[in-house]
Amino acid sequence: MSNSRRWFLRALTAAGGGIAVACRGTGRDAPAAARSLLGAPVDDYGERSPFERIARRVAQTTTPENSSSRTPLQDLHGMITPSSLHFERHHSGVPNLDPAAHTLMIHGLVERPLVFTVEELKRLPSVSRIYFLECSGNSATGWRPVPQPSVQAGHGLTSCSNWTGVPLSVLFKEVGVKPEGRWFVAEGADACKMARSIPIEKALDDALVAYGQNGEALRPEQGYPIRLLLPGWEGNSSVKWLRRLELVDSPSMTRDETSKYTDLMPDGRARQFTFLMEAKSLITRPSAGQKLSGPGFHEITGVAWSGSGAITRVEVSTDGGATWADATLQSPVLPKAHTRFTMPWRWEGSEVVLAVRCTDETGFVQPSRAELVTARGVNSNYHFNAIQGWKVQADGAVIDAAI
Ligand code: CO
Repeated sequence: MSNSRRWFLRALTAAGGGIAVACRGTGRDAPAAARSLLGAPVDDYGERSPFERIARRVAQTTTPENSSSRTPLQDLHGMITPSSLHFERHHSGVPNLDPAAHTLMIHGLVERPLVFTVEELKRLPSVSRIYFLECSGNSATGWRPVPQPSVQAGHGLTSCSNWTGVPLSVLFKEVGVKPEGRWFVAEGADACKMARSIPIEKALDDALVAYGQNGEALRPEQGYPIRLLLPGWEGNSSVKWLRRLELVDSPSMTRDETSKYTDLMPDGRARQFTFLMEAKSLITRPSAGQKLSGPGFHEITGVAWSGSGAITRVEVSTDGGATWADATLQSPVLPKAHTRFTMPWRWEGSEVVLAVRCTDETGFVQPSRAELVTARGVNSNYHFNAIQGWKVQADGAVIDAAI
């Protein structure tokens, strides 16, 4: 028995079964009397409990600056991803940008080219909205299936934040976009000058230039001090460390919309500018890598989302997809945001396969893998959103399962 456990039990006994108050810090080596010691003083920036260990899973690559890390979906509650656990995907490392020196230039097919400082952007009318952000390469192992050790490893390139910023439509009104300005190129200030061409309609719809995330400034790995945020669209198009928007009459065919982020179809042609992230859902508990402690009651929970709007229905199967039952959607249910679902479940202690599928407000139903492959083949690396199964084995251990 660890010291902390022994101390906890002693404290519980001493308190006559009342509430035992842990002393601050690790709690290790704390004598029985320690429960009455003063706790830690106030601090200027919060930290999680030292007992909490959940972490992003960092991909092991030979070039760590061109890499990714994944959100621990299996350990999250509710719909918001803590900024510190938001997935990352960088193409040339995280730049260290001074907001006092950083600017956003808007030029090209406009009446009045303008350069905004970050301070000037913050003076403009702002909005705060909750949106998911998902890398189009999320769940990519589903195309040519490789069993994944966890929901985080296979599907952790999706996160959900409360973003604050200026609607891009406000900025484009300021510069006066010319009628022939049908697209814009968004360019980042990272070393590779990551850039994507975006149709003007998205700017006039719900695009943001964001500077806030979950109530504070963007994290550096999320684009500090400003990023483009294109709700419901593939993560790569929400260009981080945004420094330039150029209005153009047609796409610029940048590196990241030609060599990557295209979808190779069975006939050998590639689809380009496939921005929309379609409806998808995942059971996060129980999920691969976890182990049920025993038969009896367990809550099945997870998240569902759609780039087309709000989730309207989530169905869970506990028999490998033979039958489905409606899960409960936790409010708020917001368009283009992770939606938390729950379902009560009694595990009888035998092998079962769990699965989930969702429907969005357009009527789109998340496809099975067979349906997805029939439509798109198996050459793609992006936009895999088929139904995911988990097998609960008789000993309670959960593994990845094709359904
Ligand atoms: Co795409």
